[in-house]
Amino acid sequence: MRLVLLAPPGAGKGTQAELIEQKFRVAHISTGDLLREAVKKGTILGLKAKKYMDKGELVPDEVVIGIIKDKIKELNDFILDGFPRTLEQAKVLDRILDEEGKKLDTVIEIQVPDERLVERAVGRLSCKCGEVYHEIYNPPRTEGICDRCGGKLYKREDDTAETMYSRIKSYKMKTIPLIKYYFQKGILRTVNGDQDIEKVFWEIEKILNKIKKD
Ligand code: AP5
Ligand code: MG
Ligand code: ZN
Repeated sequence: MRLVLLAPPGAGKGTQAELIEQKFRVAHISTGDLLREAVKKGTILGLKAKKYMDKGELVPDEVVIGIIKDKIKELNDFILDGFPRTLEQAKVLDRILDEEGKKLDTVIEIQVPDERLVERAVGRLSCKCGEVYHEIYNPPRTEGICDRCGGKLYKREDDTAETMYSRIKSYKMKTIPLIKYYFQKGILRTVNGDQDIEKVFWEIEKILNKIKKD
């Protein structure tokens, strides 16, 4: 199964991708996580990316494509979380898949009203294992500790209200055109992300179960 999760910052891509990975055994690839890893390691690519991420702007296409290309080629099944985010990235993804004789099964758009996005990101707690929590909506069992791996939870540097406004703006300018792109290809599905995590997952599960059957 090859799918893309398309949604604004803080909408729940990472949360749903982890649930899909567990239930359907499909690898979760997050460009945000890959970029943060590169920043932490202090690689040249990481240093380049950091300036953009700190401002809530998109990292240049060639940098992101560079970090994800081989992963997409290596894996037969995947959930892409946060990629593609520009029309250029979507076209490159199509080319990579074409060369490998593969295609996307579906693109799931998670819709969440703007006013929810900021509170979700500002209250987020992240873990290095990929799990995400929320101080109010999805707290860990023990304060500050990841339920899954026991790791220490941290706040992302870009999870401030100010950076969120510019991340939402980037989404509207650069990523929204992808909704039409995938709609015209006939593979776009939309779910309501403004409900409990379990309910959102239930809607996604229905879509994925249908794909598995076809
Ligand atoms: P990235 O890490 O992808 O950040 P993002 O797109 O801003 O998305 P988030 O990770 O903030 O949100 P999410 O949708 O995963 O939500 P989550 O599940 O955590 O990218 C970071 C930066 O890297 C970008 O700004 C850019 O600079 C760069 N970048 C990455 N990819 C790029 C690309 N392809 N091209 C160019 N640049 C790129 O949930 C959020 C919170 O809400 C959590 O606390 C969670 O517990 C809670 N929550 C989730 N669902 C619900 C629910 N249903 N109800 C209540 N709370 C919920
Ligand atoms: Mg995320
Ligand atoms: Zn963890």
